[in-house]
This record gives sequence, C-alpha cells and structure tokens, in this order.
Amino acid sequence: MLQFEEEIDGGGQASGAPHVQLNPNDDSELNNGPYDAGKQQDITASRVRVEDKRIINGKADVNQLVPFKYKWAWEKYLSGCANHWMPQEINMTRDIEIWKNPKGLTEDERLIVKRNLGFFVTADSLAANNIVLGTYRHITAPECRQYLLRQAFEEAIHTHAYQYIVESLGLDESEIFNAYKEVDSIRQKDEFLIPFIETLTDPSFKTGTHESDQQLLKSLIVFACIMEGLFFYVGFVQILALGRQNKMTGAAEQYQYILRDESMHCNFGIDLINQLKLENPGLWTEDLRKEVSSLIKQGVELEYHYAEDTMPRGVLGLNAPQFKEYLRYVANRRCQQIGIDQIYEGANNPFPWMSEMMDLKKERNFFETRVIEYQTGGALNWE
Ligand SMILES: [Fe+2]
Ligand SMILES: [Fe+2]
Repeated sequence: MLQFEEEIDGGGQASGAPHVQLNPNDDSELNNGPYDAGKQQDITASRVRVEDKRIINGKADVNQLVPFKYKWAWEKYLSGCANHWMPQEINMTRDIEIWKNPKGLTEDERLIVKRNLGFFVTADSLAANNIVLGTYRHITAPECRQYLLRQAFEEAIHTHAYQYIVESLGLDESEIFNAYKEVDSIRQKDEFLIPFIETLTDPSFKTGTHESDQQLLKSLIVFACIMEGLFFYVGFVQILALGRQNKMTGAAEQYQYILRDESMHCNFGIDLINQLKLENPGLWTEDLRKEVSSLIKQGVELEYHYAEDTMPRGVLGLNAPQFKEYLRYVANRRCQQIGIDQIYEGANNPFPWMSEMMDLKKERNFFETRVIEYQTGGALNWE
C-alpha cells in the first residue's frame, strides 16, 4: 500500500510527469477533454494574460511565472526561503547526554520521543511524495507550483531532521522506521491518508470533470487540514513540552522550525483550497461539505487514539484528555478556515504557548541552540 514504485515506468520517468515537449502538434485534447497534466501547453499561443491563469484546468503556459496572479503564493515562497534552516546546524550534544543517562528521562518520556520519531520519519516522506507525484501535476498556477517546489524541499529537510535525531541518539533505526507498519496508532493514521494520496498520484487521474475536480479538492483538504493541520500536532506539543522543561532541547529546536514550516504549509494549502473553491464554486456542494466534516471528525479520533497510545499515563504535565480538547480546538479552526461549520462547540486551547512557538522569529533562540542565519545570505566575491 505504502509504495510509489508503480509511478515509475520502464524509462525511469514518472509516468504522469509533464513531458519536456515544447512544440506539441495537437492541442485539441487540451481545450476539449479533461485537463491532462502530462501534456505541455502550446507555447506558440498568445502571451500569458493574468485572467487566463487558473488554479486547476488552466490553459495558460505553466512555464511562465509572471505576470503574477496569485501573489499570496509567491509571498509564501519568499517567506519559506527566508526561513531556511538545516538540521545539522543544531547542536545535539545535550540531547545525547540526557538520552544516554539512565536517569536522564523517564520511560514515559522516552516512549514519547520514540513514538514521535516513529510517526514523523515516514510522514514527511508521504507528504513529499504527495506533492511531487501528485498535487504538483494538477495545479496549473505557476506561482503555486513555485511554492510547492519549496515545500517539497522543506519536507526533505524534515525527513532529514528526524533521521538526524535518530542517528544522534543511536536509536534502533529499524524499529523507528518500521513504526508506521508496526504501531497501530501510527499505521491507522497513514492508512486513513493513503487513499487520498493515491487519488492524486494515480497516473490515470485527471482533473477537468466535476467528479475528479471534487476528488482533487477533497484530497487537498485532507492533506492540508488533516495531515499537516491536525496529525502533526500531538507530536509537536509533546516534543516542545519536553524542550520547555529543558529536556531534549536540540530535538525540540528542530521541531520548532518544523512546526513553523508546517504551519505555513497548512496556510498555503488552505489558501489554495479557498482559491480553487472561489474559481469553481460548483464543486463546494452540501454533500462535499458534509463529507469533509465527517473526515475531520475521523481525523480527530485517530489523532486522539495516537495521543492515548503515546501517553498511557500523564507525563510532562500533559495527559490524553487535554489533547482531546486541543484537537477539537484545532479541528474547529480548520473548519473555520475552509468555510464549514465548527464541529465542537466551545472547545478551548489548553496549550496557548503553542502559538508562541509557531510565531518564532529566526533570530530568537528559544532553546539556546545555535542557528545559522540565511536571511541576509553571503554575497559571492568575483574579485
Ligand atoms: Fe514536513
Ligand atoms: Fe508539510
């Protein structure tokens, strides 16, 4: 199930990926049939006009970034670049000391770290595959594609960060990397996501019909609002709570940067969803809204199950019931962001400090580990 090999054809090229064909002879299918993401637009046609650009099923040449239409996507791309970081910049010495010290952490705290890594070491690869093999092909706005390229690299950095923590602590790699197959609460989250990822990565899937456009919209919502916007949050709270108690501060610093990236991924996804709905109002039917609401409820249940599994007892001043409230609060926020009724009346945020973590400024050094600044960059010297 969790394999993407079928995407690759004998020539080593992703079967559904855009062909590098600059002068197609026949564009009749492009103009009449379902949108074919694998078919190059006709670059001999007239100049790109802003009004021809569309989030999906666009006819304008996707190779031209400007004239800008979706300025918000370009701005997010610039912000992502300004927030650039790399895992190995963060000092892990104190984490290694505390992990190797038999009295450094309790068994419950160690379980949290291992379960977290067990989920995240594969989750961000799923996210990257979803973007590269799926979403990217179907989005015809070049500003959004530009952001997705940045996002895909950030997902690679996140996988790198989790691997770097596993390696630094000397954890059993096969236990951690197989957790998504072997730990029920992790596998169930991934099994929930896979059908939506498979919709977009299926080489035969094309947008351009009411049904397929709705399927795309639904998959985008599941990815942004449930995967990136809900399934990451128990784990983020747990590791950041450890950091706040001066434990595993290097890992916590990494998670803090990942949280900032993910919160932008989620916001970009929501902007993309809302723009797609605006351009295609017929897709956002009562039935689809009901289905989305039910999917979000399932997401909350699955993430709560994960919270219970990772915290069989109270730990770090946290307990599973607090997470029930938190997940309901986050789910309400996602509903509000995409324009559906809130599901859980009166849910409050038991972890208000999480917003402070998300609003991290690069120059701020919350856990006193060092980060290289990329904001200014180094100029090349040609002399
Ligand atoms: Fe990520
Ligand atoms: Fe992400």
